[in-house]
Amino acid sequence: MIHKSTIDAVFETSRLEEVIGDFVQLKKSGSNFKGLSPFTDERSPSFMVSPVKQIWKDFSSGKGGNVIAFLMEHEHFSYPEAIRYLAKKYNIEIEETEQNDEQKAAASARESMYLVSSFALSFFQDSLFETTQGKAIGLSYYKERGFTEETIRDFQLGYSPNEWTAFTDAALKAGYQLDFLEKTGLTIVKEDKKFDRFKGRVMFPIHSMSGRVLGFGGRILTQDKKAAKYMNSPESEIYNKSKVLYGLYQGKQSIAKEDNCFLVEGYTDVIQMHQRGVKNVVSSSGTALTPDQIRLVRRLTPNITVLFDGDAAGLRASLRGIDLILEAGMNVRVCSFPEGEDPDSFARTHSKEEVEVFLSENAKDFIQFKAALLVNEAAQDPIKKAETIREMVQSIAKIPDRIKQEVYVRSCAAQMDISEEVLFATLAQVSQKNATKPAQQKVAQPMQVVAAEQPVSHVSTRFELEKNIIKILLLYGHKEVEFEEPILQTDEKSGDLKMISSKVKSRVFEKIYLDLQQDEIDFTTNSFKLLYPKILNALSEQGEMQMDSFVSSLSPELATEVSDLLLQDEQYTLHDWERKNIFVSDKSKSLPRWVHEIILRFRCQLIDEKVSTLQAQTENNHEAHHKDLLEEIVQYHQLKTLLSGRLNRVV
Ligand code: CTP
Ligand code: MN
Repeated sequence: MIHKSTIDAVFETSRLEEVIGDFVQLKKSGSNFKGLSPFTDERSPSFMVSPVKQIWKDFSSGKGGNVIAFLMEHEHFSYPEAIRYLAKKYNIEIEETEQNDEQKAAASARESMYLVSSFALSFFQDSLFETTQGKAIGLSYYKERGFTEETIRDFQLGYSPNEWTAFTDAALKAGYQLDFLEKTGLTIVKEDKKFDRFKGRVMFPIHSMSGRVLGFGGRILTQDKKAAKYMNSPESEIYNKSKVLYGLYQGKQSIAKEDNCFLVEGYTDVIQMHQRGVKNVVSSSGTALTPDQIRLVRRLTPNITVLFDGDAAGLRASLRGIDLILEAGMNVRVCSFPEGEDPDSFARTHSKEEVEVFLSENAKDFIQFKAALLVNEAAQDPIKKAETIREMVQSIAKIPDRIKQEVYVRSCAAQMDISEEVLFATLAQVSQKNATKPAQQKVAQPMQVVAAEQPVSHVSTRFELEKNIIKILLLYGHKEVEFEEPILQTDEKSGDLKMISSKVKSRVFEKIYLDLQQDEIDFTTNSFKLLYPKILNALSEQGEMQMDSFVSSLSPELATEVSDLLLQDEQYTLHDWERKNIFVSDKSKSLPRWVHEIILRFRCQLIDEKVSTLQAQTENNHEAHHKDLLEEIVQYHQLKTLLSGRLNRVV
């Protein structure tokens, strides 16, 4: 177990915007940062990070929370893994307390698979650098390809010994269970036999965006025509190849900085370009590009340049990837290499400057690229030409941005020597066809309300009221303001009791606490029930909310709730709230009036709830009881009228 002092140090040192900045391109927006949601497929940024409060909120998926919650959501880390990750990032030494056997056993299967993968990584690296076979075969292979030792270390390349069970034996000896060796695919188990999947191959570990090893690609060293050149880890609970891009871990900073990402075909293309100094390169590792992979890039930049080998046989097929990129609202350029060259060979034989010049001179937008293809294929063939134009328009139709569409139509018209009118008409046709497919609308998830037997309408009003109280407490709980309090006084002349209003200074949280207590109000939403005493505690102990340490002290779920509440105003306009007939926190209204209003509304709401329970009872009860119930209902109605009167004065 990680010692408490380490956890504290991690929270003190971590800067949320830095941590998230490794995964999402953030832009300053007022006192916050904004970016594209890493969790959904959105085009305009609704992902918000508050450096002051050290919380984040993703308005398109509804997720939010503190730094740990982000890592758990995004990287699927467990809590301790997230702490370890941050400790490593900020060079904090991890103090451990001993784990007992039970705790060890409790580590999830997923975690065990990560652990096995990480063991395999070190094993393959050690085999490469420390064994005679590794040096003689693996290292000399890499050297022959021109990889420097620094590059080999950057990409954590390795070597798997040419023996049937070298790795499996070492892993079992180190205490890893065969089950997880099999689940990660590192060991192939057949009946009572087991052997290393990657026997005798040079190893390319595949990292997550945060640098965790998810799987491996292993390249064969012999010229065996029957065996596959690359063997890859199978899909598993930790390795989903359609959601991973090779090189993203090593290239992500550069991709954001250069504001462009080169997409190449293979592992070695990535490595060679990186070594040459062009580091914003990723590869989809031999599979067709997927929307998930595009999304990974889009968090860092809206620009992709697809690089094709000179002899690209599957070039037509790869063009489908381009449509996917366009559909994601990204800008795509395409660049093909000279006959017989690929990015690997080109980067190996040219200087950094030459590579850069080549790329910038030869990268074309997809219209120019398709036009150029046609010239090569059959420029004089009118049928081919018509087909190509149609394909271009179909691609243009995928672009979500109207202005961009128009620019491309004009460019296409010029390139293909055809009138813009015809193209626009065709585009309209294609777009209409696409529009008849049901659009996928994403709606933000409403927060879960945990309240059992209450009528639905009450539940949501009640929920909104509770939420507003928590919000007031978080934002203004520490403030001292003057409240108008009704006070009972004896009239000096008549001796009658009368209600007068007097100004009383009080801190907001004390006022709320006392009023709610007086009405015996309990929160019905679970998270608010948990938060309420915690907030009161923090306020009475520290005088005001130290928001970042408060959020750090919460469970990820509660931290999410809090960030929801705090960042909500930035997202929803008052208008939306009014439309939904929800209590509006009008900023122009003074704080005491706001507090007053919400408490009064809360009381009215409680009465409504009470009345409907009573009414339900009258329906099931026999006569005698009936009358009492009705009387009670009438009393509640009177009380409500009274309260509503006061409410009207406040509002
Ligand atoms: N690939 C694969 N399995 C194969 C062949 C290829 O998984 N049998 C994937 C690998 O990720 C490889 C990519 O497709 O990196 C591109 O293939 P290729 O261009 O043949 O590989 P290179 O990386 O260029 O390898 P090398 O230069 O060593 O031949
Ligand atoms: Mn190659």
